[in-house]
Amino acid sequence: MKILLGVTGCIAIYKVAGLASSLRKEGNELKIIMTQSAERLVSKDLFSAVGNCEVYTDSDSFNIRNGFIPHTDLSKWPDVLVIAPATANTIAKIAHGFADNLLTMICLAYNGDKKLIVPAMNYRMYENPLTQENLRALNQRGWWVLEPTVGHLACGEYGKGRYPENEIVEEAIKILHWEKPLKGMKILITAGPTWEPIDPVRVISNRSSGKMGYELAKIAKRLGAFVRLVSGPASIQPPYFVDEFVRIESAQEMFDAVVERFEQVDVVIMAAAVADYTPVQTSKTKIKKTAEELQILMKRTTDILKYLGCKKKNQILVGFAVESESLEEYAKEKLFTKNLDMIVANQVEAMGSDKNSVIIFKKDGMAKRVGPDEKERIALDILLELVGIWNRP
Ligand code: CTP
Repeated sequence: MKILLGVTGCIAIYKVAGLASSLRKEGNELKIIMTQSAERLVSKDLFSAVGNCEVYTDSDSFNIRNGFIPHTDLSKWPDVLVIAPATANTIAKIAHGFADNLLTMICLAYNGDKKLIVPAMNYRMYENPLTQENLRALNQRGWWVLEPTVGHLACGEYGKGRYPENEIVEEAIKILHWEKPLKGMKILITAGPTWEPIDPVRVISNRSSGKMGYELAKIAKRLGAFVRLVSGPASIQPPYFVDEFVRIESAQEMFDAVVERFEQVDVVIMAAAVADYTPVQTSKTKIKKTAEELQILMKRTTDILKYLGCKKKNQILVGFAVESESLEEYAKEKLFTKNLDMIVANQVEAMGSDKNSVIIFKKDGMAKRVGPDEKERIALDILLELVGIWNRP
């Protein structure tokens, strides 16, 4: 993708050199614009080297050569326009339509809808109502304003104003750029294991890492869906951008969270490894190791998917089947007994791994093998199959 990166004079500029380097390594084509204050902090040669690209500064503003007019030609070039880090000054100028340097001229001339701005500054400057008003104005005009994080700032103070991790900025750029075949779809995805409490210290759980569900949520968001993610205690960090993140622990809590939202969504993908049994009783105090043997009486949890399968109106239901034997047979049986539209069957070995190999079965009899591949890629294939069902008249 073609990324026009505007860099302004904030101390976080050194992190953005890392961003330029990483975007380039990912195969993107860059052009970089530096404001005068950015140039005071870092040489344009550094950005040119890490981005392997042309860097334009204010002295290029009127450097018209062979018909190339920098601000208008550059404003037509990118797939995505990114300003990182963005100072309060540049934010204020763009919000009010100023065009007094190359970057602000380009922003005024750019008429695309893929534009991201990453403010970073002292927390008092960020929280100042004037800055907040300017950011709101940008947001209303189609800019994605990526909020800064809370932490120690370059000035030695503590508060909201820190430049976010580069991974977060990169993910936002990808979301902006991708085609949106799931636009308009409201999707609920469950992920991770559940914890069934024995006493205040111990739980019964399983090996699910949450990775498959989290990848599905991430890719669904990139494809334009409105994503609600209900997650058990997974061992990895949730995706940066979902529209709602609900953290639950037990199977009963997952049931409550999913059922509460069921009428508000078009699709449910149950990628969570929900416990089938939970202790009949949870001890209020820690069980001491007095007896030689310990028996825990368990009762069945409610099958969430089966419940949704009985209640569904127009919603599309997608289940997962994790099996150690007779994969196809059990998966097809679950497709039928839980009244699903699609089921993704995988071997038990995929649990906790970064890779997976699955067979997708649809209600109409179609079966498709996908993988072995990274779970991110598998997630994309699953969601593209979903597009087919979603678009069916
Ligand atoms: N599932 C659910 N509620 C449960 C248990 C499972 O909604 N209490 C969902 C899972 O999220 C998955 C599908 O049902 O999408 C199949 O889960 P799986 O564990 O493979 O099968 P089970 O139905 O639990 O049956 P079994 O354990 O006997 O294979």
